[in-house]
Amino acid sequence: MHILILQGPNLNLLGTREPGVYGATTLPQIQAGLDAYAAERGVRLSHFQSNHEGGLVDRIHAARTEGVDFIIINPGAYTHTSVAIRDAITGVAIPFVEVHLSNVHRREAFRHHSYFSDVAEGVIVGLGPLGYRLALDYALQRAAPR
Ligand code: DQA
Repeated sequence: MHILILQGPNLNLLGTREPGVYGATTLPQIQAGLDAYAAERGVRLSHFQSNHEGGLVDRIHAARTEGVDFIIINPGAYTHTSVAIRDAITGVAIPFVEVHLSNVHRREAFRHHSYFSDVAEGVIVGLGPLGYRLALDYALQRAAPR
C-alpha cells in the first residue's frame, strides 16, 4: 500500500509559525513520526510539501501513474481557495482524507469553507499532528477492514 501525504503552503514553517495555533512540532518531525509508524505496518509513505498551487496539482497527477492508493492532504490556505487542487484530486479519483492541524471552525469565517470537504472521505480538524496519524490509521483500516 502506497500513501501520499501532501502539505500545502506555509506548512514548511511549522515549529516557528504561530506556535500558539499550530504547535511547536516541525514538519520533518511530523514526517519522521509518520514514517516510523508506517514502516512498522509495512506501508509505503511519500511526502510532498509545496508553496505552489501548480506544484501540488502536478504531484497529484503523478500519484495516479505511481499507483498511490490513498492521499492524506492538508492543503493549507489553498483549502479555502483552490478549485484547481480540488479538480486534480477528484480528477485522479484517488480517495483522500483532509487534515487540518488547527480547528478551522473556531477561527476566522474565511477558514470555515473548504473546497475539499464535500469530496473527501473524511475530515480531521483541530487535533494537531495526531490528525495525520489518525488519517493513516483510517487508510490502513479501509484497506484491510478488521
Ligand atoms: C491549516 C488551516 C488553514 O486555514 C491555514 O491556511 C493553514 C493551515 C491547518 O492545518 O490548520 O495554512 O490548514
